[in-house]
Amino acid sequence: MRARQSRPSVARVYSYVLGGRDNYGVDKDLGDYFTQDLPGSEQLAITNREAILRAARDLATGGIRQVIDMGCGLPASKNVHEVIRAQHPDARIVYVDNDPFVVAHGKALMVPDANVAVIEADVRDPAAISEHPEVKQLIDFDEPVGILFGITLSFLNDDEDPSGVVKYWTNLMPANSKVYISSFRTGRTREAAATSQKILEAFGRGRFRTDDEILSCFGDLELLDNRLLPCAQWHWDDELDGPRDHGRTLSVWEELVVSGLARKS
Ligand SMILES: C[S@@+](CC[C@H](N)C(=O)[O-])C[C@H]1O[C@@H](n2cnc3c(N)ncnc32)[C@H](O)[C@@H]1O
Repeated sequence: MRARQSRPSVARVYSYVLGGRDNYGVDKDLGDYFTQDLPGSEQLAITNREAILRAARDLATGGIRQVIDMGCGLPASKNVHEVIRAQHPDARIVYVDNDPFVVAHGKALMVPDANVAVIEADVRDPAAISEHPEVKQLIDFDEPVGILFGITLSFLNDDEDPSGVVKYWTNLMPANSKVYISSFRTGRTREAAATSQKILEAFGRGRFRTDDEILSCFGDLELLDNRLLPCAQWHWDDELDGPRDHGRTLSVWEELVVSGLARKS
């Protein structure tokens, strides 16, 4: 029998939509609402997840060997450390989430590994993260570091200063470090309104931002590609990811989640 839980969690619903098994009835109900009542909306989760794994690959290809994944979510079929490790077996990765369920599952499912940590912390308190003993042990801020914010900043309200959170890290990191942000983007469609409303109603949070608002989170960093792109199109490599029709019209859902990667000069 399923354990009971009164409220859905972002991490569990996202994981459920991606095909994960660690969830409660309340998460499943909300996930089913998205897939059945807003068919196609699962593409938000799917394309976001695929893009963050491509971002991890790009960081590794660019020579980055240490990564902090902010708001990492539950372990999925493929994980950031596995992608980075494919290129740098000695890479160091810290997963951060403020959901104890995520941290417990991350620790339990992760093969014990001295170079991978899963810590419970809140991205709104970056100093607590940078001062965390496991971060101090694994991340050397004298070497380029990659910081991933996979949809996490969308769960910060404006008065929680998402730009300030990113700025904390960019001030700390040396040149050639990179920051990846994916974010919900505003849309004018009926589907966009229904999705953002349901997310806000279910979680009490979830901010869909304009491109300008998302771009402002990168602060002074140099945005690679000079623009945000829908996750569905972001850094897709036909050779590695399979052939894709790059000229096709994206679905309304695919337009609602975008990515950008920026570098510190
Ligand atoms: C939708 S999941 C995304 C997981 C992963 N980043 C990805 O892109 O595949 C968002 C995650 O951010 C976490 N999160 C939301 N707000 C957070 C906060 N203030 N501090 C830390 N984690 C947070 C949630 O618990 C959840 O696991």
